[in-house]
Amino acid sequence: MTRHKQAVEKATKSINQVKEEVGTNQWRLKYHVSSPAYWINDPNGFSFYNGEYHLFYQHHPYSAKWGPMHWGHVKSKDLTFWEHLPVALAPSEEYDKDGCFSGSAIEKEGKLYLMYTGHKWTGDNHDTDLEQVQCLAVSEDGVNFEKLANNPVIGAAPVGDIHPHHIRDPKVWKRGDDYYCVIGNKTKDEVGQVLLYRSHDLIEWEFVNVVAKGEGNFGFMWECPDIFDLDGHDVLVMSPQGMEPEDYLYHNLHQSGYVIGELDYESGKLDHGSFELLDYGFDFYAPQTTIDDQGRRVMVAWMAMWESDMPEQEFNWAGAMTLPRQLFIQDGKIISKPMPEVEKLRNELTAYENVIFEGKKVLGGVSGDCIELDVVIDAKDASLFGLKLRVNEEKGEETVVRYDLAEGFLTLDRNKSGKGLDGIRQAPVELKDNELHLRIFMDQSSVEIFVNGGEKVMTSRIYPGQASTGVEFFAEGTVSIKSLKKWSLNESVGCEPVHSKSLSEI
Ligand code: FRU
Repeated sequence: MTRHKQAVEKATKSINQVKEEVGTNQWRLKYHVSSPAYWINDPNGFSFYNGEYHLFYQHHPYSAKWGPMHWGHVKSKDLTFWEHLPVALAPSEEYDKDGCFSGSAIEKEGKLYLMYTGHKWTGDNHDTDLEQVQCLAVSEDGVNFEKLANNPVIGAAPVGDIHPHHIRDPKVWKRGDDYYCVIGNKTKDEVGQVLLYRSHDLIEWEFVNVVAKGEGNFGFMWECPDIFDLDGHDVLVMSPQGMEPEDYLYHNLHQSGYVIGELDYESGKLDHGSFELLDYGFDFYAPQTTIDDQGRRVMVAWMAMWESDMPEQEFNWAGAMTLPRQLFIQDGKIISKPMPEVEKLRNELTAYENVIFEGKKVLGGVSGDCIELDVVIDAKDASLFGLKLRVNEEKGEETVVRYDLAEGFLTLDRNKSGKGLDGIRQAPVELKDNELHLRIFMDQSSVEIFVNGGEKVMTSRIYPGQASTGVEFFAEGTVSIKSLKKWSLNESVGCEPVHSKSLSEI
């Protein structure tokens, strides 16, 4: 047995030993991907291979804290029901001995290739004492991966103003006969940038150019870049570390966003517009996209943030993926919508129309901790309105979503959400015909709010008590809940599909 296979088996065994107990934790998510146990971060290798979606993730299979990185693995036929698979990559070679860091996947000649960063510490200072190279692993069955003998396929960094050691997270794609990849990097004096490489065979790579680079308040390092074509434009998604807060923006430790432009494949330069966030909540980082057989551009991100307090760590797990979201360009900006397949999870509809109220309103049948709410509110003459989720009046728990008409901001307030971090996040939102449309997905310890058809999204972990399941509407002035639909949602990760409707049936 190879060293790698041994390391993979050891990791899978470690997970299996605790997963049952971990599975009983009240905050375990029912329809969001997390590992059966222990730590996860970035989505990796998101791909559509042999008719199935594969999603890998950064994983430490020996504790609920970050450590030598492995790749965990799930797959799905519909981006909704996910099956856990054995650990796919484990550190085992000299070039990746301290971690198989983030990367991506691509199919070539019927095989699935993972391109990842081999990571090594070379001393005690984790900022300066490291070496990062780019590597490949291959699989014929989409489950068992072997590292290539040619590794690393990208070794030393190119000459120029390119930091030689912080060089990671390759995202690979094919265009015509050539393969390309972008890699996260920074200049020698700490300005985030992205490098572009080209290859004929995935094995031999030539450096093309610095495809984009920060100017001004744009962070000291860009992690997890992704470039793709969307509606005829080239989009660069990246996760800048260390942008300073500006007004209501950039209050998370690190940010994830995009620029839209045109990539000149000859010069390797992206001519692009301004940086926009992909999500305005507390917990969204390192997004990665793939394209499926229907041509849909789908994005998943890590639903957490570096250095955040994660109360689930006490129960031997940490971190999760967001719902997969389909990306579109509308009026020069990206909008993201939940995949239609998520509607397979719906059951028990409760619906209301034209509920006019002022002050406070509780509606029968509208409560829960694993639910979808689709609500259109007409602001009428109100100055402020919103709803409270996961309410428990006795314990004083609530997660508040409020819209202030004078400010034009939607605020997510988790000051009284339960355990974990507090604070607020804000997104600028305009009413359409005096109406606000919210599609809210709640899982046991998460909330995702899609605003006005996905123009803005706010994603957060929250850690309420089990009895905190109330939903309450409130308004200063009169509002009308024009329509409200609430569904309970089924479990879909690591379990048998409860029903398997085709897309046309939902
Ligand atoms: C982003 C990141 C990547 C790196 C990985 C390590 O969250 O820092 O740049 O490859 O996590 O786990």
